[in-house]
Amino acid sequence: MKMDDRMPGQRQERIQEKITQMKTGQEMEAVQEIIDFNKTPAQFKAQMDRFVIGQEQGKKILSTAVTFHYRRLGQALRKWLTENDGSIDLALRHTLTPRANIMVIGPTGCGKTYSSETASRLVGVSFVHEDLTKFSEVGYVGQNVGDILVDLLLAAGGNTSVAQMGVVYIDEIDKIAGESSVGRDVSGRGVQKGLLHLVDGSENTVQIGKERIPLSTKHILFIAGGAFENLDVVVKKRMARQGLVGNWRHFLTADDLVAFGMERQLMGRFPVKVVYDPLTTEDLKNIMLKSEDSALLAYTHDLGTWGIDLEFTEDALTEVAHRAQQEGTGARGLISVLHRVLLEDMFRLPGTFTGRLLVDQEYVQDRLRCDSRTFPN
Ligand SMILES: Nc1ncnc2c1ncn2[C@@H]1O[C@H](COP(=O)(O)OP(=O)(O)OP(=O)(O)O)[C@@H](O)[C@H]1O
Ligand SMILES: [Mg+2]
Repeated sequence: MKMDDRMPGQRQERIQEKITQMKTGQEMEAVQEIIDFNKTPAQFKAQMDRFVIGQEQGKKILSTAVTFHYRRLGQALRKWLTENDGSIDLALRHTLTPRANIMVIGPTGCGKTYSSETASRLVGVSFVHEDLTKFSEVGYVGQNVGDILVDLLLAAGGNTSVAQMGVVYIDEIDKIAGESSVGRDVSGRGVQKGLLHLVDGSENTVQIGKERIPLSTKHILFIAGGAFENLDVVVKKRMARQGLVGNWRHFLTADDLVAFGMERQLMGRFPVKVVYDPLTTEDLKNIMLKSEDSALLAYTHDLGTWGIDLEFTEDALTEVAHRAQQEGTGARGLISVLHRVLLEDMFRLPGTFTGRLLVDQEYVQDRLRCDSRTFPN
């Protein structure tokens, strides 16, 4: 017996009403947040700086694009809602906001996804992260492009209006480059076509079971990210042909992405391009010391709750940053190196030791030399 069958009709109605009220409340809150959004790009970047280290130019471009997008949407919604006292749904339908979707290019672990997620968190909108390598043209191998909207709807707590104002981060977009670049998945073109439809700002429907939920993508901010390995070769070749000199990152055009194997129409939908730099040893040290999401700061805090005062010398930080860099996974390497350095102490010291735990360069080297052998059974 289904639960519904046992519930008296009146009670069912009351619950349904309550859910609708909650949804409306949630929706009003989300819209109010966007209407009240009043940060300037510089203020927004200053907030990003607390989390994302380095990538100065990238953060500038991202902050500007995100601030303008939500400012424009907020102002348009405010205007519409003041002039008509209609529903948010209608307001969203009638609001026109030319979007500037963003393409973020850069090596693995340099903060592409992290900075996009941080930006969405700072605006206060729903965020979904979709990995395109899991997608296929027709959906029988992996996911289908339309599933992105299902995920967004889930991230928005099932609230379509909230979902329609969110951010969709499309990861590994370079992996769907077409045949023109050797060795890539030939079904990529099909996925690109599906994406094109989604990004175009069209009316879509999300099918959940028997229910078909209309969901427009016209206010959704799409951010696509990819490593685009060897893209520099493509750009530098063109620059040489045209007699241009300078940092290739400043000369990247849609043509180069097309030469890489991306669909021109799709690239046209991502007019804002950001090229992130590989993180330097200095950046990696700063991530440990300054980012509010720093793993080192978290470990320091955790050990502090046991009365253990963790301290790293400058040399030790440099050593960790070097080792992380050798792993070739950007800032991701930091977490794994730090964890290996501290594992033994995190296991043994709580409850048996209080006071200062000073980690110097030699200590780091020792721990990394024998990290697989010393951990006790
Ligand atoms: N610039 C940065 N400042 C602070 N933390 C960073 C930075 N870059 C990366 N990180 C940390 O490293 C983790 C991995 O970074 P992220 O997921 O953004 O990599 P990515 O550039 O998207 O790489 P991939 O191409 O592999 O998807 C983040 O969760 C964050 O903790
Ligand atoms: Mg990523």
